[in-house]
Amino acid sequence: MILDLPAVLTPTQIAESRALLESADWIDGRATAGHQGARVKDNLQLPADHPVARQIGTVITRALTTNPLFMSAALPLHILPPMFNRYTGGHQFGTHVDGSIRTIPGTGQRMRTDLSATLFFAEPSDYDGGELIIEDTYGAKSVKLPAGHMILYPGTSLHRVTPVTRGARLCAFFWIQSMIRDDGRRSTLFEMDVAIQRLGSEKATHPSVISLTGVYHNLLRQWAEV
Ligand code: NI
Repeated sequence: MILDLPAVLTPTQIAESRALLESADWIDGRATAGHQGARVKDNLQLPADHPVARQIGTVITRALTTNPLFMSAALPLHILPPMFNRYTGGHQFGTHVDGSIRTIPGTGQRMRTDLSATLFFAEPSDYDGGELIIEDTYGAKSVKLPAGHMILYPGTSLHRVTPVTRGARLCAFFWIQSMIRDDGRRSTLFEMDVAIQRLGSEKATHPSVISLTGVYHNLLRQWAEV
């Protein structure tokens, strides 16, 4: 499942974050790439322990844990602290797959990258190029979202970022380990949750709302790793 989450951050949070990011010192993005990624990666990145990265990362993580759409779609177990990249002057990131396991900084704890996330800080009109192209079972999808929006997509997918030929593309990127490892099961639970909530808002007293809510939780109980 590929999902666009609108308004993850408010316009004020975006403006404040952008000012901090624009004034920060960026390093070569290859610092955190694996062998395959390093060959095709050409962008700038904030060091993972940079104070600005930590500060804005906390804002993002807090916003996500109170975002009902994100919680329902991702069913998160672990969220890696967000990292930040900047593409300008022809920067691009060729086709690659994200590493399957990452270590959560400062804890030594490893996590699986079930879901990849990209949160946009620049408006699409601020730059040319810079589309995130995600290949999934239905073909390639081109993603370039308004500032404050976030795209959530399977960590298993091949993806790339096209060259930025004007302006600057500024994004946060990070990974989520879900309580539901399998993308198909996770998508089914999400569709079910959305349908139950819609039914509940239209026919709150219908007994099937309770039955279906029970089915949802029983499936979650069978499938979840916590
Ligand atoms: Ni990637």
